[in-house]
Amino acid sequence: MRAWLFFWVTALVHSATHSLVELRASDPVAAPCHSAITLHCNISEENDLKVGELTWIHKEMALCIVTKAGPVSLSPRVRCDYKPQAQLTLTISHLWPIDQGEYICRLWSNLGMKTKSTTVKVNECLGKLDTSSSTSEVGCHFQGVYPQGKVHWFHQGKNVTYDSVAANTSKANHKGMYNVTGALLTRGGSNKYNCSLWIPSTGVYLTSALVQAPKLEGRSGGKSSAVSVYTVGLGWLVVHTRTFLV
Ligand SMILES: *[C@@H]1O[C@H](CO)[C@@H](O)[C@H](O)[C@H]1NC(C)=O
Ligand SMILES: *[C@@H]1O[C@H](CO)[C@@H](O)[C@H](O)[C@H]1NC(C)=O
Ligand SMILES: *[C@@H]1O[C@H](CO)[C@@H](O)[C@H](O)[C@H]1NC(C)=O
Ligand SMILES: *[C@@H]1O[C@H](CO)[C@@H](O)[C@H](O)[C@H]1NC(C)=O
Ligand SMILES: *[C@@H]1O[C@H](CO)[C@@H](O)[C@H](O)[C@H]1NC(C)=O
Repeated sequence: MRAWLFFWVTALVHSATHSLVELRASDPVAAPCHSAITLHCNISEENDLKVGELTWIHKEMALCIVTKAGPVSLSPRVRCDYKPQAQLTLTISHLWPIDQGEYICRLWSNLGMKTKSTTVKVNECLGKLDTSSSTSEVGCHFQGVYPQGKVHWFHQGKNVTYDSVAANTSKANHKGMYNVTGALLTRGGSNKYNCSLWIPSTGVYLTSALVQAPKLEGRSGGKSSAVSVYTVGLGWLVVHTRTFLV
């Protein structure tokens, strides 16, 4: 007798959980850094549905929750809108890398429990660039970078990354973005150096900038120092020619 009752209850719960109500979540999203995204969770129309609790969950944290008291946003970064018995939308107005991953919509109702999930991906992020230059070194400091990057250096079309002295990457900040720093020894030439931000995981140069090295004091840069080497050579030749003549 008890076994029969148990069977009945199980069957009821089973049918409630698996067929009576459907959820539809937005398709997976891949959006630019700093953009706005909206995720929908739509509930199929059911005549006698009573929503107990409806939630958007990310990284095991409820971001939007609807109870009898109405919708509540549990993060200052998201907006939650609820159409009773029909839809819960979650809006992130300023997307950051930490927002990536799976989002689960979960419904508890008189017709059982149901979940549906979708994913969010953030494309490359790039913030501010600062450059620096001294007579011996040029540097680039990229802020707000995602994914993790490296600085490569070019000079007159040649890859001179092997001359770089500081390749530095910070830990990710609270938004999930990195600072990437690089510096290059210039060997005193007054020239433009190209610093390019390489993103290993995507295999592209995200951006680049030209950094002008300052002229050396007392001299007038690379070209004239090359000329002076030539003059010294010629002087050596003149001196030795004389020696030979004597
Ligand atoms: C949810 O419903 C809205 C209309 O209320 C519609 O614009 C949207 O495309 C629907 N989303 C899904 C995933 O069904
Ligand atoms: C430039 O040099 C760096 C370090 O040697 C290397 O990793 C990178 O692939 C090179 N880039 C190009 C475009 O040649
Ligand atoms: C690397 O970054 C850290 C933290 O920003 C800084 O303290 C350190 O001086 C940097 N090193 C170089 C070689 O730039
Ligand atoms: C990135 O660089 C900026 C400016 O130099 C600094 O204020 C910030 O703290 C750095 N962030 C990290 C995560 O190191
Ligand atoms: C710097 O070098 C890279 C790689 O060769 C190139 O794609 C980019 O256009 C250059 N940038 C500038 C500002 O010259």
